Amino acid sequence: MALNLDAVGKPFAPLTKDYDWKDVVLYALGVGAGFPELDYCYEKDLKVIPSFSIASIFKILMQIGLESNINLAGVLHGEQELIFHNPIPVEGTMTTKGKISHIYDKGEGRGALVIGESDTFHSNGQKLFTSICTIFGRLDGGFGGQDAPKNEVVFPDRDPDFSIEATPSPDQPLIYRLSGDVFSLHVDPEFAKMSGFEKPIMHGLCTHGFACRALMDCLIPGEPEKARRMACRFSKTLYPGIPIKTLIWKTDEGKALWRVINMENEEIVIDNGIFEYGDIPKREIRYDGKVAIVTGAGAGLGRAYALELARRGAKVVVNDLGGARDGSGSGSAAPADQVVTEITSAGGEAVANYDNVATVEGGEAIVKTALDTFGTVDILINNAGILRDKSFVKMEPENWHAVLDVHLKGAYHVSRPAFAVMKAKGYGRIVMTTSAAGLYGNFGQTNYTAAKLALVGLMNTLKLEGKKYNIRINTVAPVAASRLTEDILPPDLFEKLKPEFVTPMTLFLCSEDCPVSGNIYNVGMGFCNRAAVVTGPGAVVAKGEGFPELEDIVDNLDKIASLKGAKEYVDLNEQIGDLMAAFTPKSEAAAGEDDPTGISVGDIFADLGNHFQPEAAAGVDVVFQYIIAGAGGGDWYTAIKDQSCAVEAGCHDKPTCTLKMDAEDFVAMMTGKLPAMQAFSSGKLVIEGDIMKSQLIEKLFKL
Ligand code: NAI
Repeated sequence: MALNLDAVGKPFAPLTKDYDWKDVVLYALGVGAGFPELDYCYEKDLKVIPSFSIASIFKILMQIGLESNINLAGVLHGEQELIFHNPIPVEGTMTTKGKISHIYDKGEGRGALVIGESDTFHSNGQKLFTSICTIFGRLDGGFGGQDAPKNEVVFPDRDPDFSIEATPSPDQPLIYRLSGDVFSLHVDPEFAKMSGFEKPIMHGLCTHGFACRALMDCLIPGEPEKARRMACRFSKTLYPGIPIKTLIWKTDEGKALWRVINMENEEIVIDNGIFEYGDIPKREIRYDGKVAIVTGAGAGLGRAYALELARRGAKVVVNDLGGARDGSGSGSAAPADQVVTEITSAGGEAVANYDNVATVEGGEAIVKTALDTFGTVDILINNAGILRDKSFVKMEPENWHAVLDVHLKGAYHVSRPAFAVMKAKGYGRIVMTTSAAGLYGNFGQTNYTAAKLALVGLMNTLKLEGKKYNIRINTVAPVAASRLTEDILPPDLFEKLKPEFVTPMTLFLCSEDCPVSGNIYNVGMGFCNRAAVVTGPGAVVAKGEGFPELEDIVDNLDKIASLKGAKEYVDLNEQIGDLMAAFTPKSEAAAGEDDPTGISVGDIFADLGNHFQPEAAAGVDVVFQYIIAGAGGGDWYTAIKDQSCAVEAGCHDKPTCTLKMDAEDFVAMMTGKLPAMQAFSSGKLVIEGDIMKSQLIEKLFKL
């Protein structure tokens, strides 16, 4: 079994984890917190211990092991470094993206080091932490690779500034394992003996959590958000119930070195500890080097966007026709010129453009101004707008067309040449401007609402076409005091609706950091929320093979109209997929009755022995227990010993590991439709017991 050196640099399937306050508290209890640190154990004003980070992405260690093909018989968690970017919220979803960054060779008989690096993001869009995890493969050295660069930590030759004693409970691993690391070595006395230990041992990361509490207590009491970096090497195992002390030396401003000592035998359990702390460096979103076009930037919202983009380093094309509120008149250079003067006198860079977005030539000329003056275009805010309100019957074609020409066609005219530039360079951010009137309706604005909602349709497809080129397109529905709203909004509200309340969201959507594409946000007065088109689960109304009757619609209207369990689709194909799936009830598919493959869980186990690979089973003595839930499911196990395999229904009393899955997912995985790694990282496949041994399944059975 050789290391897979090709794994270096290849990204893992992203790992997602939903968590809430109970996970946070369970972790805190698992690493010894209690009443004296209630902030970490009580949902009221709950805080998160920073080392919760690595416990929550524990599966990444498995991924590093699986992808590198490390010999599991000799695997150890060698070192762990965590870099904290933002405080960890008490609930949400974490998404971790990572890769194996290096595989080092320490030489024949001296082992190998596999380094996995990952970044974890919160569902709030913030990057939470970076993990650099070193797995030591005792049995994998000597493949002719390079050794790791030396990275010694020199401790001061003096007594530590702090020495914090703690005694993990003899039952500590039983609590800690509930945070994710359910490896048998920490719970099963027989397994521990088989592995050469007297009894189950502490999780290294549990001791790490005790150390993190000690470090916080001494250096940043009550302020976990001030942890910036925590790194260490796991050097010795520890039995639960043995007292430990965390020794801490303050070495620099915001930096300390630390180690954890076993107080019974004075062994160093965790060594080379580094802890850095301080305020989160203030991050300013900048647009240096970026070229932005803002249409209709001579007044109102567009002006506010242009000023702030320039203040944050962008070079701005300030487009404005300078016409009347209803678009009439021959236009004026004054509004655009005025904004350019404001920008340049504040030290920014900008150029005026007076073209009309309502024409093809106007759109091209606006983009040309950006190219001629600044050489490119990175950002486009389609903002120009007019109003011609009338109730529908009085809405003459002239007023209808004028409004569609500026809002809808205007966005098309400017976006098309800008998109071509962005596509060629592989980067772009576009913001459309819709309106609550378009999203929800407003009396007397049929022209305007039709145009505004059409912009959402334009975004929906552009987001798909732009995805491959890192072009992200989003939409804002602003509410702001401006020429367009001065006679619509009551005067007291008008004062509270400065365009500057809208600017942050619109500019965030133009930033390099913007993680989303295809989203719509209502923004105004310091309030933002997301709007979306959602679709209910619906109902099948066709009886058998025939067409439905009108009465079938009436009979099913409740279900058809219900938005309970509604979801948002990323594209048409997702919706068509659900349409097709509506005719394949889940439970039947799982049982294999309606499954187009016709394969059931029982069929798979009946046939599994035929796929056994005896040559891959030399020296292997394992029992894999399968607990398959749902229709067609049941319990089966495979016992592998002396290069032979028995497949039996029922439960084994000493499985090496247990795999739990829904029947439908199991069939999908075993028929190649659901990759095992994806099933595992998405939580569809849960493995208990000796997780590392489950890696053998792929080698022992070739399906
Ligand atoms: P505004 O009237 O202050 O600014 C719009 C600017 O667009 C004006 O300076 C105008 O000269 C320019 N413009 C009009 N037609 C143009 C054309 N054909 N070519 C180039 N420039 C042209 O209005 P405001 O409120 O700042 O509106 C900005 C955008 O936000 C518009 O698309 C509007 O529909 C949208 N909006 C505004 C809301 C609000 O509460 N202010 C509510 C919902 C949407």
